[in-house]
Amino acid sequence: MAAVTTQTAAEVASLGEPPVAPLQTESFRVDRPQIVGPESPESPFPIRLSGPVQKGFGRGGKDLGCPTANLPDESLPPMSSVTKTGVYYGYAQVIPPRKDDDTLSRTDVEVLPMVMSLGWNPFYKNERLTAEIHIMHEFKSDFYGYLMKAVVLGYIRPELDYTSREALIDDIETDKRVALNCLQRPEYQKYTTDPHFS
Ligand SMILES: Cc1cc2nc3c(=O)[nH]c(=O)nc-3n(C[C@H](O)[C@H](O)[C@H](O)COP(=O)(O)O)c2cc1C
Repeated sequence: MAAVTTQTAAEVASLGEPPVAPLQTESFRVDRPQIVGPESPESPFPIRLSGPVQKGFGRGGKDLGCPTANLPDESLPPMSSVTKTGVYYGYAQVIPPRKDDDTLSRTDVEVLPMVMSLGWNPFYKNERLTAEIHIMHEFKSDFYGYLMKAVVLGYIRPELDYTSREALIDDIETDKRVALNCLQRPEYQKYTTDPHFS
């Protein structure tokens, strides 16, 4: 794997230019472990985030088959000030504005497993640092503007650049499997009932 920066995402963002990400290699793709990290979350995790869901460019759902919910810039510092860019895993919950809301189902508002991408999406050459969360669940409807809460529990891999959309999709599918394997561990499952969630 290419050398990975030790600078936090916020430090990189303060330089004013999107960083250059390493290109995904064939050996990275075939050698990926199916479970990563320690048996229980270690500092700086858990990291608790929350904010209203914002619209991204919409390519996650259309191009990649992986819709993502973006957090606003103001919600990033608890994460971006202590972690580097990359792909992370944990739990997330969507909270409707009203108790009697029926646009989402009962299962849609549960605490659900998620993968998160923190970075500049080098494949799409974004100009700004973003945090995008893909919740591993089929939602009944969109939930832009709804409050999203997340507890980030671990790091999976660095953000990479890709020569094809298929290779990025392939890595995201692996990220989802890795995240689910990681979250099976009892010390991680405990966070489904974290007081941060409603
Ligand atoms: C788990 C996960 C991993 C991702 N990894 C990368 C990556 O390594 N490189 C990259 O350029 N984009 C990565 N992305 C970001 C996608 O490029 C991004 O979701 C896509 O640009 C859609 O954004 P949009 O909805 O704002 O259009 C990842 C997204 C997810 C959910």
